Amino acid sequence: MSHVLIVDEDSVSSHLLREAAREEGLSSVMVTSIRQASMQISLQRPDIIFTAHHLSDGAGLSLLDTGGDSRRIIMITMMAEPSVDAVIDAWRLGATDCLTKPLDLPRVRRWLRELPVAATDISGQPSSASLLGTSAAMKTLSEHINRVAPTDATVLLLGESGTGKELVAQTIHAQSSRHRQPFIPINCGAISPQLIESEIFGHERGSFTGADRQHKGYFERACGGTLFLDEVIEMPVDLQVKLLRVLETGVFMRIGSHQSLSTNVRIIAASNRDPEKAIAEGRLRLDLFHRLNVFPLRIPPLGDREQDIELLACHFLDELNATHGTAKTLSDSAMSVLRTHHWPGNVRELRNFIQRAYILSDKTIDPQLLEPIPAYCRTSSLTLSIPVGTSLADVDRKLIFATMELCGGVKKRAADLLGISLKTLYNRLEEYGRHEKNMVPPKISAHRMPALIKQGDRVRIANGIFSPM
Ligand SMILES: Nc1ncnc2c1ncn2[C@@H]1O[C@H](COP(=O)(O)OP(=O)(O)OP(=O)(O)O)[C@@H](O)[C@H]1O
Ligand SMILES: [Mg+2]
Repeated sequence: MSHVLIVDEDSVSSHLLREAAREEGLSSVMVTSIRQASMQISLQRPDIIFTAHHLSDGAGLSLLDTGGDSRRIIMITMMAEPSVDAVIDAWRLGATDCLTKPLDLPRVRRWLRELPVAATDISGQPSSASLLGTSAAMKTLSEHINRVAPTDATVLLLGESGTGKELVAQTIHAQSSRHRQPFIPINCGAISPQLIESEIFGHERGSFTGADRQHKGYFERACGGTLFLDEVIEMPVDLQVKLLRVLETGVFMRIGSHQSLSTNVRIIAASNRDPEKAIAEGRLRLDLFHRLNVFPLRIPPLGDREQDIELLACHFLDELNATHGTAKTLSDSAMSVLRTHHWPGNVRELRNFIQRAYILSDKTIDPQLLEPIPAYCRTSSLTLSIPVGTSLADVDRKLIFATMELCGGVKKRAADLLGISLKTLYNRLEEYGRHEKNMVPPKISAHRMPALIKQGDRVRIANGIFSPM
């Protein structure tokens, strides 16, 4: 949800803005000084700031210097008696718009309504990172992207975790005529099942307990743009039926409303699972699969395109050098190590790896800096010792805890290794937490982990406590 920061000593304007933000389904915070505003920005970075031109402790536009991440904030300054000089100054300093008081509410609403578009555009996300690769597989992928991007065809992206599905989705959006409209990614596996329907379709005020205002769902907010349904197989099956209906009819209703709204979104869906297996297991509806599978694109694992490893490694290193003003290089022998590694975590793993090697190196990244490959990068050969007679539920719990440890607590990676959805993993962990409050989960302090768990180690779990065998 987009977030609005209101900085003004004039409570009438502040309340008006807050009400307008609420009507648009945005969260907001009101403060009365630059000091409080700076604190708020560090707590929750806003997407848009409405600030009085002058406050008792400084100029509203000084907030443009606060923060410092690359994502720009839309800054709107408000003046009671604007002079031409003040307006020109505001623009020069980086204000996006200047409003006069009393506030022009339709103009305020227009800003708030267009916020997802503006925020998506200026974040640079969809267009800034480019999809690199000179391997035959990437060239074919690129050609297919170029062909499908200008159409409105639904695209289904399939590929292992970290291969670049989201980047491909962003590239398709950026190359389409919708590129000036929002690109909205939804991680279908990470939204709570209770909220997912209202998040996607929106709800009316009072439609369920806690719905104290109208809320626009992703379909409405992505209007004119692209909706990226990531991990689509993790969507609850009953919701898949509703999604299919919307995709087929082009209309939907907010929860608690009988008014049909037309959709105007392009759908790109993605999964790192095999859809056919998910269909056989009853986790993906066949009819939804056919509806999404209009233009399937398979993104090859990095291990299958050795040619791209060097290019990507150099690119990630160049990025770090440019950010930090350094000129570190990769030695030839380090490059050979990178080329021969299998990269089960694909491009994401390579990126993280280069970052780590960059931090550890002075000038040249040598092979010894690339070792040891972290345990989670190798195929897991940790062994659980489970006595016959252990209940299946107990085995399940132990395996989940052990996999969590192996993955250093990264749930997404653990869920992938276990072959279950992220949602299922969350549910299990919550369940174990509830039922076993008194049980100490197997925890190993970070500095002891490498000594304890290594490739090939056998590990015993007794009473929820890890110990080497
Ligand atoms: N071909 C590529 N060129 C440049 N960067 C890439 C490429 N492929 C992936 N990346 C980078 O690798 C990282 C992982 O990519 P992305 O998030 O798109 O993967 P994913 O397939 O969506 O992963 P997951 O299934 O885990 O969500 C990102 O930082 C992305 O920018
Ligand atoms: Mg992704």
